Parts: sequence; C-alpha cells; structure tokens
Amino acid sequence: MDNPFAEGENRVIRPPATVLVIFGATGDLTHRKLLPALYNLAQDEYLPGGFIVIGAARSQLSDDDFRQKMYESVKKFSRRTLSEDLWENFSKNLFYQPIDGTNQADFARLRNRIEDLCKERSENFNYLYYLAVAPSNFGPICTNLNRSGLVESTEDGIRKTAVIIEKPFGQDLASAIELNHTLRGSFAEEQIFRIDHYLGKETVQNILVFRFANGIFEPLWNRNYIDHIQVSVCEHLGLGGRAGYFDKTGILRDIVQNHLLQILALLCIEPPISLSDADSIRDEKVKVLKSIRRFEEREIESNTVRAQYTSGSIEGEEVPGYLEEEGVAKDSTTDTYVALNLEIDNWRWAGVPIYVRAGKRLPKRITEITVYFKRPPGALFRGRQIIELEQNILAIQVQPKEGISLKVSSKPPGPRMRIRPVEMDFTYDSSFGIASPEAYERLLLDAMKGDATLFTRNDEIEESWDLLAPVFNSWQGSKPPPIYTYKAGTWGPSAAADLLRPHGHRWRRL
Ligand code: BG6
Repeated sequence: MDNPFAEGENRVIRPPATVLVIFGATGDLTHRKLLPALYNLAQDEYLPGGFIVIGAARSQLSDDDFRQKMYESVKKFSRRTLSEDLWENFSKNLFYQPIDGTNQADFARLRNRIEDLCKERSENFNYLYYLAVAPSNFGPICTNLNRSGLVESTEDGIRKTAVIIEKPFGQDLASAIELNHTLRGSFAEEQIFRIDHYLGKETVQNILVFRFANGIFEPLWNRNYIDHIQVSVCEHLGLGGRAGYFDKTGILRDIVQNHLLQILALLCIEPPISLSDADSIRDEKVKVLKSIRRFEEREIESNTVRAQYTSGSIEGEEVPGYLEEEGVAKDSTTDTYVALNLEIDNWRWAGVPIYVRAGKRLPKRITEITVYFKRPPGALFRGRQIIELEQNILAIQVQPKEGISLKVSSKPPGPRMRIRPVEMDFTYDSSFGIASPEAYERLLLDAMKGDATLFTRNDEIEESWDLLAPVFNSWQGSKPPPIYTYKAGTWGPSAAADLLRPHGHRWRRL
C-alpha cells in the first residue's frame, strides 16, 4: 500500500526512541483510538526503533492481560485488518503498570519500571505521557510525575519529556486558566500538547494547502467576494454511553469551543509566515479567534440558538429523547444542538456572516465547510426565465466523504440559453485511492517528534472560551434564552433557520 504520509520521494522521518505512558489505559479512548492508531503506525513502519508503551490505570492487570485486551480492541477498531505476525512483534513492546494518579509511591514504581525497560534496550528514550483521563486527574498526575523526577529533561538534552492532554481543556475561561496554571507547575508550555483530534484529520490539514497552494482561491478569500460561510458538525449518534460527561458539558463545549472553532480559525487565517514552525500558524489562529466579535448580552437571543432532541427515528431506528436517556437529569437544560451567527471583525472578513452549527441525533454524520460566493449580476440573462443567478458554492467535506466540490453555473446543451448548476468535485477516495489515516495516528506521531503544529496552544484555548463566555453567561443568567427542541433524526429546531432568515440565507441541505 502507498504511504499516506510520504511526500514525493521523502519518506516520513521516524521519531526518536520513545516511552509512551498512557494514563487511562483501560478507558474507551485507549481501546477505540490510541492503540489502534499505534498499531497502524507500526504497520506503516513509522514508529521509532525503540518504542515502549506502558498502559497505566487503577485496575490490577498483568502485561499479558493488558496485551490481550488491546489485541481485542485493535482487532475491533483498527482501520486495517489485524495481522497476527505484526501484532506479535508490536505487542512485545506493550506493558502495564497499575497506578493511582494521586499516590506518589505508585509513580516511584512507574519510574523504576520505565528505567528498567529502557536499560534492557540500552537506548536513550524520550518520555511522552498521554493523559486519557478525566480532567480532575490532570493536576495530580502531572504533579506526581514531576515530584517523581519523571518530567525533567536530562541536562545534556538527550532525553525530552512531554505531556498530551485530552479535551476538554477546562469548562470555561476561568477553569482553563487554572488548569493551565496547574500544568505549568510541572511542564513548560513547549512540553504541553493539547490535543484536538480534528486538527489531525486529513481534510482539516488540507484547508491550508487548498488555500495557500492554489493561485485561484486566495485572491477571492475575503469580504469582497464571499457572501457568507457555514460550518456544520453534524452527528447522528447520541450520547454513546457518555451521558455523565455530556450532560455536564453540552455541545457548545464539546464541539464548538474546540473542533469547530479550530476549523473556522484555519479557514480564515492570514497566510502564516511559515508552515514549518508550530507558532506561525498558531499565532495566526489566535488572531482570528481574537477578532471574532464578542456578543453583547442583548444580542445573544438573535444570534444563537440552543436546543435538545426529543425522541424520533434515525436510519429507521426509534431513539429516545435526550431527557429520557439514561444518566441524563430529567430537568437537564444541556444543549445537544447549537447554531451561532458569528462575525470576524477584521479587515478581511468584516460583514461576512459566519454561521456555525453542531448537533447530536441529526439525520446523518457529516462535517462540512461551505463557502458561498457573492452572486454575479444577472443583467445579461434577464428576460430568459432566469430570475436570479445562483451563487458559486465551495464545499469542503471534512467527513465522511472527504473531498471538495465547487458549484458553478453552466449552459446545458441545446438551442436555448439556459443555465444549470453543475458540480466540479474531487474526493479523496477517487483521487488518492487510499484511505486516510486516523487523526490520532498523525497526532501521536507528531507528539513523538515534538512537533506541536497540530496541537492547540494555550492562548487559542483561552480565546475560544472567552468568545463563548457571554453565551454561557446568558444561558445561566436570570433571563435565559429559550431551549428549543427538535425531533431526533431532523436537522435541528426551526429557530436555527430563523437565525439566517433576516440575512436572506438558508442552511445548506447536507
Ligand atoms: C469528540 C466529542 O471530541 O468528538 C464527541 O467529545 C464527538 O462527543 C466526537 O462525538 C466526534 O468526533 P468525530 O471524529 O467522530 O467527528
């Protein structure tokens, strides 16, 4: 199979020898995403020669128990079929260490274990810690790592250490600042990799290539030519057994604050100075996030819509309403759908409405960026039963059918002057003929190499919380805006359509 990371003749450079400790090793993320991703990296031969994975969690498991569990997970969740031979080799480097994140003595044992394993291999290893645990454990784990001498780099710079933090990074601006403060007590900013798995998706990375490696789009990429933009992150799934987490979180925190705003930031950034240092891109993203106009309290109701799904049917299957889901409080006001009308108030984008929406239990899973260009004048075609010319629409489908399409007007063959929209499109499937790697593959690989480009910097996170703070305040205030409902399996409440109507716009039919 072709190498999805290879660029021309340049094969991917392997990371240096690494010990990866996964905290939360018995959890869902490790089973579904992390181990399958590592296995696929092994299959592509991208892992370093020296590579050790230590699963760490409270359960008392042996190395063999852990290997067996991971074998089953990889078999079930890997994007490629498990090869027994490869597994045999790969699993030799999997180990397990029981750990209580609050018990320092356990970290001393972890340190001994790491040192013993490294000694056997007589190589210099970097240490990478993956915190796939509840946020309340981030602080104690980092502190204990630090106190046990597992954080500092060696004096001669041979060993580097870093930590990967899963979302959610805080619940709001104050808690994000506090969390960062806690992390910075043990790690320096360059050692902290805050993961947003959407940044590891191929199509999200392609936004920059599409914008800056083509001559024809960038000149049009501004308020003079673009009428409005829509970003939709739609899921048909409900809570997937995560009611405890989701009911405290809601879709605005779960999807918009991170994934959706990151997509938007990349879509709207100025050309960065360089693509090869992490901060150039992140500096530009921060500027976009800073420039998004903050809502006044009186503007919330006319620019935001929140809703909850009621029972309905998805792909022919009856599903319960949100308030009937197990683990959800009967009087919960948690948002399962949101739509916002944003504006980036800078020289490039002022006046261009940016509509974003995210929801659970919608008719299908689709993430799409849709750019509507301004309508051309119709003078030439008047009197030919053509009332208005259509807008050119550029649609970047992030998932599931990764690809890009451009809607243009065209004349169908025949003696009459008629106009019909046609699509010019490309899909990853037909153009590249290979399946895209999973986001976690790329992100784990980058973290091992110490490349933070696809990880969010602290100021990006703080800006996105700051942007949403007025919305949360109003929802929790004395006169909160309504919580609408929508039937599961529909495209959200009608109030979401009303959000666009005053501007003469409509949500794209996905
Ligand atoms: C996660 C959210 O970050 O992203 C989930 O916590 C959501 O609620 C998931 O389902 C969606 O990710 P993807 O890659 O399936 O679009």
